[in-house]
Amino acid sequence: MTAGVKVWDWPVRITHWVLAVAVLGAWWTGERLEEWFVVHRACGVVVLVAVLFRLGWGLFGTRTARFSSFLAGPSAVVQHLRELVSRRLPAHAGHSASGGWAVLALWLVALAQASTGLFANDDVMNAGPFYGWVADGLSDALTAWHEEIFDFLLVLVGIHVGAVLFYRFWGRQNLLPGIFGGRRNDVPASDDIGAELPWRALLWLAVVVALVGSLLWLAPPAVLDAF
Ligand code: HEM
Repeated sequence: MTAGVKVWDWPVRITHWVLAVAVLGAWWTGERLEEWFVVHRACGVVVLVAVLFRLGWGLFGTRTARFSSFLAGPSAVVQHLRELVSRRLPAHAGHSASGGWAVLALWLVALAQASTGLFANDDVMNAGPFYGWVADGLSDALTAWHEEIFDFLLVLVGIHVGAVLFYRFWGRQNLLPGIFGGRRNDVPASDDIGAELPWRALLWLAVVVALVGSLLWLAPPAVLDAF
């Protein structure tokens, strides 16, 4: 028998690590666009699919995956910050009251980052897959946003990793077993999320992939003015 209380289902965990790798991959390849543009574009599409999947999973996934379980009102956020300051954090499954808003911000900024990239261009030879759908001026504006937003995304990722470390060393709670293996042994058994919903997750993933895939397929080829 596996030890520990199940706190995150596998779609949440896989989406998390896929998103993390794709964001870091987009960053690395974004610094080397001439050689790595195709990989950069692929990372962007993966970010898009991962975030759209996760946003839907926030509506009909398992308990801790749902927005309704972690988007708390201001008083809960203040209460959580008080607990954090006093180092008296109750261990529980799912996001904390302030962590929930932070991850929502991460998803929305990652979504904005990937979406603007779809229409971006580098004025020379590379363009996002939906470049052909918009006027040059709009593509240039979205390209500028694509560059600006990334810094913001990196700051949020830095805060996120910093918060996990802060929880570990100041709050004396190790969140990592949850996001790696899905289980923690420091939370009450009543917090267990119960049965996972693999078919629902696969069906929803298929819908998201079909949606994004169809748009990519329908998009006109990008022809830059330089040619
Ligand atoms: C680009 C890098 C990363 C991004 C974009 C990212 C994003 C996220 C997001 C969106 C969530 C919420 C998961 C969900 O509810 O579906 C999350 C949770 C989590 N992440 Fe990351 N993450 C990144 C890197 C990391 C790294 C490097 C670590 C390890 C130090 C980490 C540790 C965690 C943990 C432990 C949680 C669960 C927090 C909790 O129990 O409340 N993440 N991350």
